Amino acid sequence: MSSSEALWLEPAGGPSAAELSERRRWWEARSDSFRAHAPAALHADADRRERPAEAHGLCERYLPLDSLRGDLFACLRAWFGPALDELEVDLATSSLGRARSWLDARAELPSLASGLPAELFVRCAAAASAHALLFELFCSPRLGAALTRYPAQLSAIGAALAGESGRALRIWDAGCATGEGTWALARAARDAGASRVAALGTTPWPLELLCAQRRAFPHDPQRTAQLRAALEGLDEASCALSFARHDLRQPPPGRDYDLVACHGVLGGVVQGALPDDLRRLAGAVASGGLLSVTDAFREDRHAAVARALAELGWRELAPGLLRKP
Ligand SMILES: C[S@@+](CC[C@H](N)C(=O)[O-])C[C@H]1O[C@@H](n2cnc3c(N)ncnc32)[C@H](O)[C@@H]1O
Repeated sequence: MSSSEALWLEPAGGPSAAELSERRRWWEARSDSFRAHAPAALHADADRRERPAEAHGLCERYLPLDSLRGDLFACLRAWFGPALDELEVDLATSSLGRARSWLDARAELPSLASGLPAELFVRCAAAASAHALLFELFCSPRLGAALTRYPAQLSAIGAALAGESGRALRIWDAGCATGEGTWALARAARDAGASRVAALGTTPWPLELLCAQRRAFPHDPQRTAQLRAALEGLDEASCALSFARHDLRQPPPGRDYDLVACHGVLGGVVQGALPDDLRRLAGAVASGGLLSVTDAFREDRHAAVARALAELGWRELAPGLLRKP
């Protein structure tokens, strides 16, 4: 989003200049002390996810995450509180809310790879950069979607759909995050010869939904440009995509889909009730249609899905890709 474009969320007044500079100075002192005294290992390797518990504990001494969350969320609420309430966005569910220490927060937020918390308060002085930070907290590429996250699954889907060439196909992408995977599924269906594709991507998370609907990322112009380039050549007449809010724990948003995909969802984010989630996903597939379930971090999940559905007569065409009887 360029600075001349309107913000997606209506800003309120923002934090007072005095309050902001007080918090910024406090965090600058903390950041200076971290820079001067924290062991080198805590500065390096920002990308690493697996860290010993001691590293998080040590980092907490310099940069206490609860205080950071309190201060930063207060600034973001001062800017966007009414809009966040209207959309039912809970800041505690952002990547900062889930982090164990500053080390996790930094790994989730690409713009902070080499930064320190004080910088966040510099950004909160302007509505546009606070807005970008808010979307980054909820739509980090590490948590969200990518166009090429599951290439093997996409080619297996393409091969299975080739048999449907010339037909109009309906797709539901359950847990679509910011929507790139939905576009990739639509393209795979079209490339397999579908005469028309209607794909619905759903996510329960409102800021992801805004990115998916607008095909853009306020915090990442490069990612916006990549998505738009990838969409070139997909015309609305033969490829209709829509995005909506939906939680897998609710009844499905439709039925008789030719393909239901649930990628990267069941293993990590939706914990626990696999049989119920699976029943809802499987129930939305048309007879003879496909269910695709995969998760890069939890391969046991698609094996469990295949076992459960095999008992009901579904056939596994490729790992995690099943055809309904
Ligand atoms: C790792 S992303 C996967 C995105 C995408 N399917 C992909 O493979 O690229 C996990 C997504 O699961 C979705 N999710 C989380 N909790 C969910 C729930 N209770 N019901 C439905 N979807 C959920 C959110 O959209 C979240 O972004």
